[in-house]
Amino acid sequence: MTREADTRSYPAMNFLSDTTAPAHPSLIDALARANEGYAMSYGADDISARVEARLKEIFETDLKVLFAVSGTASNALALSVLCPPHGAILCHDEAHIHRDERGAPEFYTGGAKLIPLRGAHAKIELDELDRAVAEIPEGFVHTNPVRVLSLSNLTESGTAYTPAEVAERAARIQDRPAFVHMDGARFANALVTLGCSPAELTWKSGVDVLCFGATKNAAMGAEAVILFPKAMDRFEELQARQKRGGHMAPKMRYIAAQFDAWLSHDLWLDLAARANKRASQLADGLSRINGVDVLHSVDGNEVFARLPEAIAGQMRDAGAGFYQWPDGSARFVASWCTGEDEVENLLRSAN
Ligand SMILES: Cc1ncc(COP(=O)(O)O)c(C=O)c1O
Repeated sequence: MTREADTRSYPAMNFLSDTTAPAHPSLIDALARANEGYAMSYGADDISARVEARLKEIFETDLKVLFAVSGTASNALALSVLCPPHGAILCHDEAHIHRDERGAPEFYTGGAKLIPLRGAHAKIELDELDRAVAEIPEGFVHTNPVRVLSLSNLTESGTAYTPAEVAERAARIQDRPAFVHMDGARFANALVTLGCSPAELTWKSGVDVLCFGATKNAAMGAEAVILFPKAMDRFEELQARQKRGGHMAPKMRYIAAQFDAWLSHDLWLDLAARANKRASQLADGLSRINGVDVLHSVDGNEVFARLPEAIAGQMRDAGAGFYQWPDGSARFVASWCTGEDEVENLLRSAN
């Protein structure tokens, strides 16, 4: 398949999730290329080495990378090497690690305590963070000491922490022997909106480990746990836990091949920008409809809106797919292949 296939549209009004989207043809081509002959297994292949080198350039630092097949596995495994069973992980109350991973972080850490914190638009409020840190003294035998602060970027409300916002939160735990973890399932979507560098949004702002997701942005199934210098010594432990947890893909070259194509020629950024553009188009249109409230700033590819029931019904009758969120709002997710026409048709169905 050629790059022309990029412009293919899938006019189905599917706003359920970016994981319902097909993989980008360039990644499928890369899989076919990777399928030549023998290659070392368990990450010792040439493609994996090339991707690690490329990630060092992109993030402008030394790092270690471990490929994984799901965001849940990469979050849970990463947290398990950062937090002991008796430690605490501070996260937002709506964080995927807290609400949507069926206890995987608790399971893989061997029982670490997740402490959910509040904050509008799914960003941890500084006061909340200060209160939590102050309430948990270091060295008090009865409480779980803070060992990780976990931030999602994009957040679960589709908003983005800026580098300054990441840094001011990371600073709150700097006097603790603790790490900053970033759930970057939609890192590319946040990055292209913020217009900063990958380094600025991660280690330069205090992030020690990034779970870097490609699956939601056009991969077939490709996630990477990136350990920045402060956490690099955890790599062997991470590998051991991935193996012991049954998550180590023997033919790692196929995950690496997806990253290889995705990171080439800024494809990952182009695809995220495309999805974000469709989400902005949708948010603009929705905000012009009487009775519809767009609830959060649209910093990536997700739009959350409160819709009158009649409008939600009209959209569904027209064939649109989207989820109702636990707070009663509707979540619309655009992907790399969402067409302008799909968004227009959805908006038309509401009028
Ligand atoms: C913010 C966030 N983190 C992590 C994940 C991990 O997902 P999965 O295990 O389905 O790859 C998701 C998936 O919806 C997500 O939205």
